[in-house]
Amino acid sequence: RIFPNSEEASKAVANEIAELIKTKQKAGQQAVLGLATGSSPKTVYAELIRMHKEEGLSFKNVISFNLDEYYPMQPDAIQSYWRFMKEQLFDHVDIEPGNFHIPDGTVSPSMLAQHCQDYEKKIKDAGGLDFQLLGIGGNGHIGFNEPGSLENTKTRLMMLDQSTRAAAKTDFGGELTKVPKKAITLGVAKILQAKRIVLLAWGERKAPMICNAVEGTVSAQNPSSYLQKHPNALFVIDEAAGSGL
Ligand code: GLP
Repeated sequence: RIFPNSEEASKAVANEIAELIKTKQKAGQQAVLGLATGSSPKTVYAELIRMHKEEGLSFKNVISFNLDEYYPMQPDAIQSYWRFMKEQLFDHVDIEPGNFHIPDGTVSPSMLAQHCQDYEKKIKDAGGLDFQLLGIGGNGHIGFNEPGSLENTKTRLMMLDQSTRAAAKTDFGGELTKVPKKAITLGVAKILQAKRIVLLAWGERKAPMICNAVEGTVSAQNPSSYLQKHPNALFVIDEAAGSGL
């Protein structure tokens, strides 16, 4: 769906999330959300906060799992995705503190594999992801599943591409050496198991990636292309991001 601008697009996505939360609430169930960081989802989170404050949308029945976290990363560091989520959403709504999950960037190397397994198990025990929100990286990554990630990949530690690290440089004082070389990411397989996927992209710089993801060959070289195979995935973009289609 191509919207004239990111504001209108973000409202439509926030509405869909709110409807899911409310439907689950009425049925006495939890809404299991897969959440993303990056600049793209910020406007969706802002709209959800507005709906909470002005329309009484409650997050009491929400359980969430974030896609990824840098490794290593302290939760209180400025660049941590933990901090991002607190600032952009969780601190402003009534989600229960124990109900949101973000991969732990402080886990010791020897416990990493276990941590990744446990993360997937928590999603499974919650009933699987009802909804997965995604952005798209400059090289077509989803979460931090970099090119080369197979369709069946599980949650794991990923070496970040040079281009991904370069794109993150500004968040780390402009110094590439300060950008972590690795990240923990939800695997492609888990992302694709979500019942519904919505990928966001704004602006002209995203146009080539959107074109490749939607019209290109499905290949591990472009993990976003796997979404072509999902039965219920939607790209929500603005006109500029759709200008290459
Ligand atoms: C990072 C995140 C991705 C995100 C991407 C694009 O790499 N790990 O989940 O999709 O950035 O970010 P932005 O939305 O700022 O373009």
